[in-house]
This record gives sequence, structure tokens and C-alpha cells, in this order.
Amino acid sequence: MIKNVTDNVYYVGVDDKTIDLFEGQYVVPNGVSYNSYVIMDDKIAIIDMVDKRKASDWMDNLSQVLGEKKPDYLVISHLEPDHSANLMDVIAQYPDIQIVSNDKLFGMLPQFFDVDIKDRSVSVKEGDTLELGEHTLHFLMAPMVHWPEVMVTYESAEKILFSADGFGKFGTLDTDEDWACEARRYYFNIVGKYGIPVQTLLKKAAAFDIRIICPLHGPILSENLEYYIGKYQTWSSYEPEDKGVFIAYASLHGNTAGAAHDLAGMLKAKGMEKVVVSDLAREDMAECIEDAFRYDRLVVACPTYDGGIMPVMEDFMYHLKMKAFQKRTVAIIENGSWAPMAGKLLKEQFLAMKDITVLEDMVTIRSTVKEADRKNLDALAEKLK
Ligand code: FEO
Repeated sequence: MIKNVTDNVYYVGVDDKTIDLFEGQYVVPNGVSYNSYVIMDDKIAIIDMVDKRKASDWMDNLSQVLGEKKPDYLVISHLEPDHSANLMDVIAQYPDIQIVSNDKLFGMLPQFFDVDIKDRSVSVKEGDTLELGEHTLHFLMAPMVHWPEVMVTYESAEKILFSADGFGKFGTLDTDEDWACEARRYYFNIVGKYGIPVQTLLKKAAAFDIRIICPLHGPILSENLEYYIGKYQTWSSYEPEDKGVFIAYASLHGNTAGAAHDLAGMLKAKGMEKVVVSDLAREDMAECIEDAFRYDRLVVACPTYDGGIMPVMEDFMYHLKMKAFQKRTVAIIENGSWAPMAGKLLKEQFLAMKDITVLEDMVTIRSTVKEADRKNLDALAEKLK
């Protein structure tokens, strides 16, 4: 797809609607876009490339925008293959092009490409600029805003931030869907571990007057930027976004599931508006992680299995730990027919996380939910509401 970002800045990225799993793990029902941009000026700069799955479409877009002109610079913000796969094609097509990035990226580049680019490398550092004519690129290092070599670029004439993976979203550009839902799922699963580096970048970016954000995935953002930046402030500081309860359950025969749904009904009856229940075995795990971060209260409901935690709950806990889950209130429902252990093990894992309050009122079910269990669930709902 080709479109104008401004008169002389073009979007030349591609939509990928056929990918089954992004990063080999995330379902993307509405595909994903790999974004790339061209700035036409006295000097011409390409900002980032795309995934090899869409190499020829991207090269076609590029040559349509460039016509007979040759690009002077290729800026690489991020070396992950969904944004850099076409380097050899670019060098073959435009043999005089100079590659602009930072030392960290140039150091990693031979791991991905068997090519010597020393004579065409332009290494930039924090605060360096590159004049294209009317446009000037300002480079800001953004280490660990996904990978260690990441940098972002601010173009000062048109006040555009090329934000690398930051402000990215699943879903192709022609998908009509809520930004926050798929941007949140993208953020917590891909960048979520790196909240502190994202905060650092947001602080740096606040020094610039930004009118347009051009990310590497998802739509170009040009209106109401406070909304998107506000979401990133909340997400990267690990603060809950909404007041509500997310109930994540694993269940062998439906009894623990029943307890989870009973609790949800009790919370709603007590006036709680936002209660979300998910079966960890059947829902998208990335969506479950997103919801765990979205709400301020989390309930986990889990049977004891082989003397431990049911595997799908173990997987959920692993993801929470890896994504630095913190600053939440947690309650536990366990089930066990002869030696319940899941609750104790879950509590230990939560207490090892930062700023997690585990409610003392753990509910222990023995196989099926009885009247006494319902009373305990209702008491838990009182504490949670
Ligand atoms: Fe879209 Fe970190 O790559």
C-alpha cells in the first residue's frame, strides 16, 4: 500500500493477511502490517523495511514512489527480521545507498546478513541529526524497546516520530477495529517486559513537539496523540488501566470453571461492572495476559494436577512472570480431590512478583462446588468488589 503521510513523506509498507502466527506464536486474526516510509527531499531516506514474506510487494511500492530517483539513505531502526529482511535486495537494487543506524545494530547485523556494509554505514548516536534538505532526522536511542539496538527517529520539519515497535498494533491497515484492544495485546505480549525502557523513551520523546507517530506496525497516528501516549504511560508503568476483575481459570471437568463463573455472577450481583472470565485452555493466551494487565484485580482458579498446578495455568503464570506482572491484587481459588496444592504453589509464585497483594481468603474446593464453597466464594466476592 502506498499513501501520503504528508506531501513528501510516504507510507510504503505492506499488509500481511496470510500469516498464521506473528513471531511464530501470536494469533493475528486480522493479520499485521509491516510499515515502511520514504522521505522525499534533496536527499531521499527510506525508513525501515518489511518482512521477507512481503519483500516483492514492498520493493514494488518503493520503486513506484521513487520512480527514477535513487534513495540516498536507508535508516534501520530495528533489526528484527519483520523490519529488516530486505537489506540484500535494497543493496542490490540501489548499490550506492548508505545505511544509517547505530553501532549496536551494526554489531548485530552480521548475525543476520552475510554482507560487509562498512563502507556504506553511517553510524549515529543519541542526539545526532541528518539533514535531508527541508527535513532533518534526529536520532534517539531506545534500547530494549523490544531489542537492544532499537532507535527511533524524529523528523523536525513535519514533527513526525518514527517510533519503531512503539505504538504498534496487530491487524492490517485496512482492518476497521478498535486501536487499543489489539495495541494492548501487542504491547503486553511483545514489549511488556520492557516497561522501564519504554518510560525512558517516553520521557525523551516528551521533549519534542510530535504531530504524527509512524510506528512499524498498525496505523499512522495523527490525531488525539495524548490518548495514545497516555495509554503507553499507563501500560509501561504497569498501572492498571481499568477497575475490574479478570478471572482466569483452568478446569479438568468443569467444576473449577463453575466456581469461576459463580464468582463472576456474585461480583456482578454486587454491582461490579467489569468482570471478565477466561478459560486458559481455550482462550488466546496473549489475550489473557492482556486482560491480566488491563484490570486491577486478578483471580486465578486452578485444580491441583499431578501434585502441582494444571499445566495451562503454569503457562499463564510463566507469561505473567516474564512480562513483569506487578501492582495488582490477586485472589486464588484452588481445587483438589485428595491433596490440594495448587493454591499454595500459586501464592508462592505471586508473592515472588513485585507489589502483588494476595488476598488471604483463598477458596479451596474439594472436587465439586458445595453450598459451603458458595458462601466462601461470596465472601471472596465481598473482598474483591
Ligand atoms: Fe516488529 Fe520487534 O519487531
